[in-house]
Amino acid sequence: MPADSQSAVSGKPVPQDLGWPIFGHTFELLKDPMKLGNRMRARFGDVYKTRSFFMEVVQLFGPEANEFVLLDKDQNFSSKEGWEPILKRLFPRGLMLLDFDHHRAHRRIMGAAFKTEPMRGYMHTMQERIPAYIDAWATSDEFRFYDAIKDMSLELATDVFLGLVGHEDSKRINQALTDMVSASMGVVRVPLPGTIMRKGVQARQFMVEFLTALIPQRRDGNGSDLFTHLCQAVDDDGNRFTDQEIVDHMIFLWMAAHDTITSSTTTLVYELGRNPEWQDKLLDEMRSLGAPDTPLSYETLGDLVLTEYAFKEALRINPPVPSMSRRAVRDVSFKGYHIPKGSYVGISMLATHRDKNTWPEPMRFDPMRFSPEGGTKERHRFAWVPFGGGAHMCLGLHFAYMQAKLIMYDLLPRYEIVLRPGYSTDFQIMPLIKPKDGLPVRLKQRD
Ligand code: HEM
Repeated sequence: MPADSQSAVSGKPVPQDLGWPIFGHTFELLKDPMKLGNRMRARFGDVYKTRSFFMEVVQLFGPEANEFVLLDKDQNFSSKEGWEPILKRLFPRGLMLLDFDHHRAHRRIMGAAFKTEPMRGYMHTMQERIPAYIDAWATSDEFRFYDAIKDMSLELATDVFLGLVGHEDSKRINQALTDMVSASMGVVRVPLPGTIMRKGVQARQFMVEFLTALIPQRRDGNGSDLFTHLCQAVDDDGNRFTDQEIVDHMIFLWMAAHDTITSSTTTLVYELGRNPEWQDKLLDEMRSLGAPDTPLSYETLGDLVLTEYAFKEALRINPPVPSMSRRAVRDVSFKGYHIPKGSYVGISMLATHRDKNTWPEPMRFDPMRFSPEGGTKERHRFAWVPFGGGAHMCLGLHFAYMQAKLIMYDLLPRYEIVLRPGYSTDFQIMPLIKPKDGLPVRLKQRD
């Protein structure tokens, strides 16, 4: 049945299993969200209500549901109210926490920081810095890839995002970001003394003061970092951000970029380690562009076709943002069910990406699924949604592709990714996907 929404909305009540009193299904969700989702769908179908993290959420499953919620052509759903329970205290007024006209106006200004010229600048900084990290990793017999790439992303962010390389406060800044992100993922949502939430709130306060003090100089500066571009961003009608908006957006952007890139490149390295034939294919592609001697240019990024397929496939198997939520601002109906105004509505990228009806053998790494022959045209356009879709679709999508390609282009032509024989790892899914053991790997120098 097609998705529908209308003003006088009727329909069946959504079936529900709220689980335990108060906690609902929180613990099962944290342990194995796929198992919980499969069980609920087997019982209720594609629309049902559960409770977790003290909230009742109507879960909608499948590409049509993703389209209904993300494309949201009738403006039925608030992203702000969907995300605020998780992000409000630490990342208030970030782009994802704005709605409708207000959101559109801010997105237009922020778009200036993601145009071609600023992107070239970010790329240049990354190209200068990434090889040294990779060489340092290769000096150990074995290292935890997830931890290493996380540290690299954090340090790169100080440079690419803030233009503060070697700054006396860079350690404190990195710690502040780490504290904010950890706090936003914690179960305790109130900043009681001794909690990680308290640490996170203090870290935000530090960052607000630190960034605010830098704004006057960045408004007139000529740096190539994202913060400078945000301070100078102007839309086609001449609108700019206020100081407070710059600070709010900067802190949010930093969070949005950090763990997502860390998680997705970790999955890619894991799958390449398990599928060495794919390392060879990417290597051939890179050599055809002159690797390792010829650096990539902004223009040749698009020539890394197989590398892009491989990254997309990693994002399919393990979407770094496994699920998303919205709140209905009016009564709506979907597949004949009535969803009352005020309901929290959740969709799962993870479940969509691992649905065997759309993706045969879903856990098999097969980047050719993203080639024209692999069925891209035939598939529903909301069957692959690691970056969301519609008005709130990830603004840093090209940035993410660029960073992943730069890392691979610096790594694969010089080193082979080697996993322990027969190795496989378990990924923690919630709140963000990461390998439970940090993914031990070895980089073997190529001849
Ligand atoms: C592989 C890496 C990434 C993934 C998987 C990812 C995923 C997502 C998703 C799913 C959303 C939509 C959330 C929603 O609709 O509720 C989103 C939004 C956003 N992302 Fe990303 N992201 C990634 C990297 C980045 C990077 C590198 C940046 C910035 C440099 C960034 C900036 C943003 C921003 C600003 C938004 C909010 C857009 C809006 O509300 O209009 N992301 N991202």
